[in-house]
Amino acid sequence: NIQDRIKEKVDYIYQRLRTQMSSIGSSTTSDKHVFFVFGASGDLAKKKIYPTLWSLYRDGLVPENIHFIGYARSQLTTEKIFENAHKYMKVKDDEHEAYEKFLKLNSYVPGSYDKAEDFEHLHSETNKITKQPTAHRYFYLALPPSVYDSVSEMISKHCRPESPGLLRLIVEKPFGKDLESSNKLSEHLNKSYSEEEIYRIDHYLGKEMVQNIIVLRFSNKIFSRVWNRDSIAAVNIIFKEDIGTQGRGGYFDEFGIIRDVIQNHLMQILSILAMEKPRSTTGEDIRDEKVKVLRCIAPIKLEDVVIGQYTGDKESTDPEHQEGYLDDKGVPKDSTTPTFAQVVLFVNNERWDGVPFILRAGKALNEKKAEIRIQFRDVPGGMFDDNIQENNPNGKLARDELVIRVQPNEAVYLKLNTKRPGEMDFSIEETELDLTYKERYQDVKLPDAYERLILDVFTGSKINFVRSDELQEAWRIVDPVLAEIDKKKIPVIPYKFGAVGLREAFAGAAKHGYIYT
Ligand code: NDP
Ligand code: BG6
Repeated sequence: NIQDRIKEKVDYIYQRLRTQMSSIGSSTTSDKHVFFVFGASGDLAKKKIYPTLWSLYRDGLVPENIHFIGYARSQLTTEKIFENAHKYMKVKDDEHEAYEKFLKLNSYVPGSYDKAEDFEHLHSETNKITKQPTAHRYFYLALPPSVYDSVSEMISKHCRPESPGLLRLIVEKPFGKDLESSNKLSEHLNKSYSEEEIYRIDHYLGKEMVQNIIVLRFSNKIFSRVWNRDSIAAVNIIFKEDIGTQGRGGYFDEFGIIRDVIQNHLMQILSILAMEKPRSTTGEDIRDEKVKVLRCIAPIKLEDVVIGQYTGDKESTDPEHQEGYLDDKGVPKDSTTPTFAQVVLFVNNERWDGVPFILRAGKALNEKKAEIRIQFRDVPGGMFDDNIQENNPNGKLARDELVIRVQPNEAVYLKLNTKRPGEMDFSIEETELDLTYKERYQDVKLPDAYERLILDVFTGSKINFVRSDELQEAWRIVDPVLAEIDKKKIPVIPYKFGAVGLREAFAGAAKHGYIYT
């Protein structure tokens, strides 16, 4: 039975990972490990980092001899942190014993983000706990970017393990606000850390379907022949959220949706979709190809940008929908920060010349969804002109479209034309070859993106992290248009909380040849 076979395979993978974990760091299993959560009092720590550490621990996917230390300015206790995080921890009835053990492996040390004595204190507390100055140390910076510089410097100066202990620094996005500040941050980090030690997280790289793009593209002959300008008319990469900024307006207003989602998550997807075939799946081969393709992308032109900002829908029965972006407490009343944007990119190489990559991201829309739509060109000739159904838009054969649904409800489906079943003539109907994961892989639990990525940090795999040159290229592409939007004070188009999208954006995509079927 297919489900049993899948389960067996997953069990085998987990077993292999557990073996890897128990021998990680060096050849001896007596090595100790400390995972630090900086910003332990914060939103990301509560919602993602602690729940991830718990589930990795529960599944035996952290190294043996590990301890977790939270650090922030607030005077907290471990108990308080886990009380705050409780509803995100998902502890099942039969897991309470394991959970208690996990809690005992946690400590909390309060301290500032810029005083040497606080970091010296953290260092000595760590040594007291581990009794091993060479214990490997992993530092997760779940902090606002304003304190990255001082915290990273202090860690390097005062909290490094003694040799041969490893240090890994995990940095959350945003990596800067523009090319200049991003380069400055990189330069700053490079003063204290080797590139080897820095793990820049883009959690979209930990999502199942984003990782699957590489396998779909390069392990199927059926795609390799058509993955180019000869067959593909347009590529649409879409990110939609059905929530507003929800109190994160203070952070968001400084960045806007282009910096928050498009420059990183969507451009990462684009680079994997468009890159040439890497030599292997190991080492730097994949990241090398991603950088190469990013280098072929010209900066975005203002004429290819649509920006919008959500307003409250006063008629909605949902109180959240009644609030517009400007009602968020952290947002200035005259803010023109976009909460929706669409940009069109072109990859200037032989494979992609002229094919529009339409990247669209919006908050406070009608649904939460992230998907990739690869639309193929029209079938030439008019053989079926007489058989096309009335409900077929444009009176033309619908285009084939490969859809990779990243979330929710992961799926890959191919929209194609088929003979309408049962008809006596050649009536044509659009249908789907559908690989919906929850139907095909019923018992497989897909790990959360953060679980995969933190696991990668332990195993030292950097394939799914952002390299500094990738980052530089991504900023080079968006930077000029961001400056132009600011300088020319381009107005944002208002849209109501819960809207499907912006008419102007759909029209922009259509102008570039994307056909809505
Ligand atoms: P928070 O605003 O919750 O900040 C985390 C902690 O940092 C706070 O608990 C606070 O701890 C401290 N802090 C907050 N503001 C300041 C300040 N101005 N100066 C110094 N310290 C401050 O952030 P998040 O947890 O939401 O995000 C952390 C990082 O992760 C950010 O870079 C964010 O962009 C990124 N991120 C967050 C996501 C999320 O869903 N929250 C998703 C993806 C990325 P204390 O006062 O106790 O020191
Ligand atoms: C973060 C953005 O990087 O990704 C948020 O800062 C956004 O604004 C989030 O909400 C979306 O992540 P996911 O995994 O829920 O799609």
